[in-house]
Amino acid sequence: DAQSVIDLIDRQFTLGPEKLISITKGFLEEMELGLANYGKPLAMIPTFVSGVPDGSETGTFLALDLGGTNLRVCEVVLNGDKTFSLVQQKFKVSETLKTGEAKALFDYIADSVDAFLTTHATTEYNSPKTAPADVAPDVVYLGFTFSFPVDQTALGAGKILTWTKGFSTKNAVGHDVVQLLQDAFNRKNMHVKCVALVNDTVGTLLTHAYTAGGSHIGAIFGTGTNGAYVEDLEKIKKYNGPANKGGTMIINCEWGAFNNSKSHLPITPYDNTIDRLSINPGFQVFEKFISGMYLGETARQIILSLVDAVPKPILFGGASTGPLNEHYGLDTSFMSKVEDLWIGEDKSEDAFILPPLASVNDSNVGPKVASKLEKIKQVIVEVLGYKPGQVTLRDAAIVRWICFITARRAGLLSGLAVAAILVQTNHAVFPGQSSANIKHPNEIIGVGVDGSLVEHYPNFQQRMRESIATIIGSDTEKRVNIGLAKDGSGVGAALCALQALKQLS
Ligand code: BG6
Ligand code: GLC
Repeated sequence: DAQSVIDLIDRQFTLGPEKLISITKGFLEEMELGLANYGKPLAMIPTFVSGVPDGSETGTFLALDLGGTNLRVCEVVLNGDKTFSLVQQKFKVSETLKTGEAKALFDYIADSVDAFLTTHATTEYNSPKTAPADVAPDVVYLGFTFSFPVDQTALGAGKILTWTKGFSTKNAVGHDVVQLLQDAFNRKNMHVKCVALVNDTVGTLLTHAYTAGGSHIGAIFGTGTNGAYVEDLEKIKKYNGPANKGGTMIINCEWGAFNNSKSHLPITPYDNTIDRLSINPGFQVFEKFISGMYLGETARQIILSLVDAVPKPILFGGASTGPLNEHYGLDTSFMSKVEDLWIGEDKSEDAFILPPLASVNDSNVGPKVASKLEKIKQVIVEVLGYKPGQVTLRDAAIVRWICFITARRAGLLSGLAVAAILVQTNHAVFPGQSSANIKHPNEIIGVGVDGSLVEHYPNFQQRMRESIATIIGSDTEKRVNIGLAKDGSGVGAALCALQALKQLS
């Protein structure tokens, strides 16, 4: 019957403590493999950034940010007292540009920088004390946040390893991304020089460190998901660069590619469908469980399976709509709205106990629940394109539950990735293990985060924390300070440009 179908899905999307811990162990194994070898799914990329800032850095920089919801050009002023100011302009990157030729994409980026400079240019931009001979004296130096996997070979150079998040630009993979950008500036005779290349997670880590006076992890939960952290050089076995004893380097994990083999993750038929229909089947499997690009699609697949249920439809009397039938037709912001209406101001998820979902109707829910479901129904009507008469309160309750199980699983897995890094860096141990090896047991552990999910999705952070506490114990979880590093990428790119200019001087 309908309830047993719902119960089965609920079980498939539930992650108990044992499962969370066993996935974390798998995560640690893949991290170790990636730290020892190039070319592994968890790429564990050395970033050539050796440590984090402390907030005393100063200067004015131009920064560029590609890979989140928008392309952004920013002017960043680091005040040197842990504060900064930022002026930015956002530009849309069309689907045509994402899937077209690299030259067209980078020309568009250069044009955007040009448009920004025309309206916002300052004369205060930092430059090295001794400008390189091949560079015009009035050149503006730029830090580039490029939020895709790159095989970095220096602070300002690296080859694109692969595209993620719906990009598939041609003639880019295998090319140096800084060169692609610089060529576009040069084609347009723009006096802009890109000196630093940084992933958004690294930018977020640096920004959190800059504003909080220190940080250990930077993570993005947005269109995609990924994390970066400060690693001991001696643990980066594959890195052959100069290794000063006790030195550190920031590692960009590219954790979206964790468990591409699907051996540990709680794969459901819905996840298999999403992966198969994506433009990169078999890649970024962890990201497909977590990030904003895919959560709406997961919810859409579950909704459709209940619309199509046999012998009797479980949702919307068996009717579907245009957005529901369209690949990626349901945006994660829909789920966010639905959950917001349900959770309400008090942020409590358990505030209302429903009868078994399949038997919810207008008369067996109290007036408060009915009023919330009524509002959710309106969102369903507006976003999915049903007529009001086609949606019942029961449909609304089931849709809210679908959003909940999908986002709860994402939040728990997001927390898991953070917990794995804390174990890897000896800040934490699994329950029952000796805490003797915990590094600085009383230290506050800084985690800078950014991205639309963690910023806007109701209770996302709370669900992350729940899983961190399950995996490494609530005492350690209480020491984890998760801070939103808003605009982290721009500031991070500025900090890297500063480091690069010091090397040029
Ligand atoms: C932005 C950062 O704030 O967040 C980007 O500047 C980052 O660099 C982005 O990629 C991630 O969030 P979203 O939701 O835009 O993918
Ligand atoms: C994708 C990218 C990664 C980025 C993340 C968050 O996973 O591959 O580089 O950090 O999205 O934007």
